[in-house]
Amino acid sequence: MTLPPPHVMQAMEISAPGGPEVLKPVQVTVPVPGHGQILIRVAYAGVNRPDALQRAGLYAPPPTASPLPGLEAAGHVAAVGPGVTRWQVGDAVCALLPGGGYAEYAICPEDHALPVPEGMALREAACLPETCFTVWSNVVLRGGLKAGERFLVHGGSSGIGTTAIQLARALGARVFATAGSDDKCKACLDLGAERAINYRSEDFVALMKAEGGANLILDMVGGSYLPRNVKALADDGRLVQIAFLQGPKVELNFAEVMTRRLTITGSTLRPQSDLAKARYARDLAEQVWPLIAKGALRPVMDSEFPLTEAPAAHARMESSGHIGKIVLKVA
Ligand SMILES: NC(=O)c1ccc[n+]([C@@H]2O[C@H](COP(=O)([O-])OP(=O)(O)OC[C@H]3O[C@@H](n4cnc5c(N)ncnc54)[C@H](OP(=O)(O)O)[C@@H]3O)[C@@H](O)[C@H]2O)c1
Repeated sequence: MTLPPPHVMQAMEISAPGGPEVLKPVQVTVPVPGHGQILIRVAYAGVNRPDALQRAGLYAPPPTASPLPGLEAAGHVAAVGPGVTRWQVGDAVCALLPGGGYAEYAICPEDHALPVPEGMALREAACLPETCFTVWSNVVLRGGLKAGERFLVHGGSSGIGTTAIQLARALGARVFATAGSDDKCKACLDLGAERAINYRSEDFVALMKAEGGANLILDMVGGSYLPRNVKALADDGRLVQIAFLQGPKVELNFAEVMTRRLTITGSTLRPQSDLAKARYARDLAEQVWPLIAKGALRPVMDSEFPLTEAPAAHARMESSGHIGKIVLKVA
């Protein structure tokens, strides 16, 4: 028998903008699902770089979202709001959250949740939503990646990178990845990259040019990478920017963008409409979940921390020593 949710729950809050230590345990009211929303009893919550940006005061949650961090989770449906048709109490789901994943219960629109893939543990399923939504919308929809194209992803060993390598490979692209150590490069090769580039000892621009240039680059670094990405693109190539770890401001000669017909674009997932996210979820169910079912894509797991050790999880992520995803065990 499934018990009704309690009134209060344990969560980790951002007590003040700052380093990992500002994440503190707190008791808060369990959210009540509104029209079209589900309440999830969180088993595991994924940790993402944007959580660290939010914690540092650099990435404010949308006004309607929970102020608690946490953009993805897996668990069981604990309650449904009015008008919910897709899910029932007890269903195992993983979901993209507007926030609030670092807690025992979290709410989201019912069509931002996906079934836990057959045979996959909740621990792994918690790591799917944020990277799958981001990679699908930026690499496939915005970037228009096609089979046979040369695809370069920076930060290949990150949560985003490990998903991008596998998805691009499954779509028939030739995959190139950069990473900051030989161990990380090996992980990229193991996931299906044809060439992994240790950016500390190799020049990705020269290597990509020797291949004829990248048709599509997915970049989270920015800064000095912007002009170098332009050089590394093939004619008619596309650059999709999803973050600026080295900063967003740089001097760039746009003449090359014009004469070689390049496209520079980008997006962030969190501020997009519920409808846009629901469309991505539908695409993922139709096109990516079957790839997971046949073993072509799996989350790469780095480490697990109890919810109350979220500060240690953030410290690990910000040390950049990890390969793949970090999760918080909640229940
Ligand atoms: N636009 C969106 O909607 C969206 C959604 C989710 C995530 N993101 C962004 O995507 C990126 C990856 O997210 P994630 O959660 O997968 O993070 P993650 O696992 O922590 O990956 C970040 C990786 O970037 C590399 N890196 C860190 N600082 C760097 C620097 N200054 N210069 C070069 N490389 C650096 C590190 O690998 P190396 O050791 O190889 O340098 C690190 O593993 C983050 O920047 C995040 O903010 C964007």
